[in-house]
Amino acid sequence: MSLSPYAIPVAKELEAAEDVLKTTLTSEVPLVTEVVQYIIQNGGKRLRPLLTLLAAKHSGYRGDAGPRLAAAMEMIHTASLLHDDVVDDASLRRGKASAKAKWGNSISILVGDFFWCKMSRIIVDHGSLRILKVVTDTITKTTEAEILEITRHSDFSIDEETYLKIIGGKTACLLAACCQVGAILGEVSENYEAALKRYGYDLGIAFQLADDILDYVSEEALFGKHKGGDLREGKLTFPLIVALRRADGEEAKLVKNAMLGGHIGAENLKAVLDIIQRYDGMERTRELSARYAEKAKKHLEPFKGSLEKESLLGLADYVVERDE
Ligand code: FPP
Ligand code: MG
Repeated sequence: MSLSPYAIPVAKELEAAEDVLKTTLTSEVPLVTEVVQYIIQNGGKRLRPLLTLLAAKHSGYRGDAGPRLAAAMEMIHTASLLHDDVVDDASLRRGKASAKAKWGNSISILVGDFFWCKMSRIIVDHGSLRILKVVTDTITKTTEAEILEITRHSDFSIDEETYLKIIGGKTACLLAACCQVGAILGEVSENYEAALKRYGYDLGIAFQLADDILDYVSEEALFGKHKGGDLREGKLTFPLIVALRRADGEEAKLVKNAMLGGHIGAENLKAVLDIIQRYDGMERTRELSARYAEKAKKHLEPFKGSLEKESLLGLADYVVERDE
């Protein structure tokens, strides 16, 4: 399953965004170029540029700034992952050694800053203060959510509401911002812009909930991350949170011991997975992910039909059903 069918309406612009990434992210310092090349060539779904371009085109934008802003939104995402892998001490990203594992924490953070600076320059050159405000407010929320998540590490009292707040800030806000930037480019009405932003937000929640399931069940080769990574990082995600709410004392203790006991091997992971399955943790997460995807689609109901709208609707189903 890939994003390419949904990219058809903006295929040319997406290619141009890829060129912007290649031509903008250059440096006279050889190590910066080396790290940037490694990250850019290692792919990624490019969901954020796709959303930016679809939203812009659907909003009637016909100018030429789309690819630059789409690339800028991908740069925010990449910068946040370079920092996040340091925060999470993650050795694998997109199926390969993370930049942090390959070059160390300092380089991963500083190249993240490099991405951040190049993104800022694109937005300043574009000259829209509204876009600059959307982007800076979004990164503020993302950073706050990342910190909130850290404060709730290995915290068994975390509830669904708090968890949804964390993933709202961590993942959904940036997808919302991509759609909003597209809408601002198209100079649409306030209501229209708000609807696209809400679509992006609910899509982001659906996306992250599906990610929580994949983290437990997906094979490394497909998902590009270690199976059970969230558990190992002390993150209680939605499948486990709902299961723990129903689990008895013994089961909760087992999960706690597995999580706090240092190394989580295949056996521990299986025991936790069994508890999640016993209390329908996966089904409930999938149901909620699907509900958010439906909510996302509803925000688009007032809009006239277009190829871009079809893609946005299709993406909502994709994020729930994806296997990578
Ligand atoms: C991945 O979550 C992390 C994020 C989506 C956000 C990270 C945000 C920051 C580090 C703060 C913002 C910083 C900048 C420079 C924009 P995850 O750890 O659950 O997902 P993963 O399994 O893919 O690592
Ligand atoms: Mg992480």
